Amino acid sequence: EEEEEEFIRIRIDDNGSGVHPNEFEKIFHPFYRVDEARTRTTGGTGLGLAIVSNVVKEHQGKVWAEESELGGLAVTIALPLWLNK
Ligand SMILES: Nc1ncnc2c1ncn2[C@@H]1O[C@H](COP(=O)(O)OP(=O)(O)OP(=O)(O)O)[C@@H](O)[C@H]1O
Ligand SMILES: [Mg+2]
Repeated sequence: EEEEEEFIRIRIDDNGSGVHPNEFEKIFHPFYRVDEARTRTTGGTGLGLAIVSNVVKEHQGKVWAEESELGGLAVTIALPLWLNK
């Protein structure tokens, strides 16, 4: 799919709290965490999705977040099966 190239899609859905649509792109920025109040208590650094985003970009793929039908967040990674050199 997508411009006659072949992509594989990996989609992870969850039924958690999700994020507001305003945040769908921001959560991929380094050190961005939606709930600032949780920063000290819940351990995360806000780097996980930024690393995912960089790795996917290096592989000429795409990653995005959207609302899940399960009520939480859905994150999809699309990777080309063949790299354009
Ligand atoms: N599945 C999800 N459901 C709801 N919010 C999420 C989800 N995944 C990420 N987020 C939000 O996006 C923010 C950034 O996620 P990211 O994975 O980059 O950082 P983190 O999990 O906080 O820390 P780290 O991954 O570095 O340990 C999270 O702090 C959270 O607010
Ligand atoms: Mg994380």
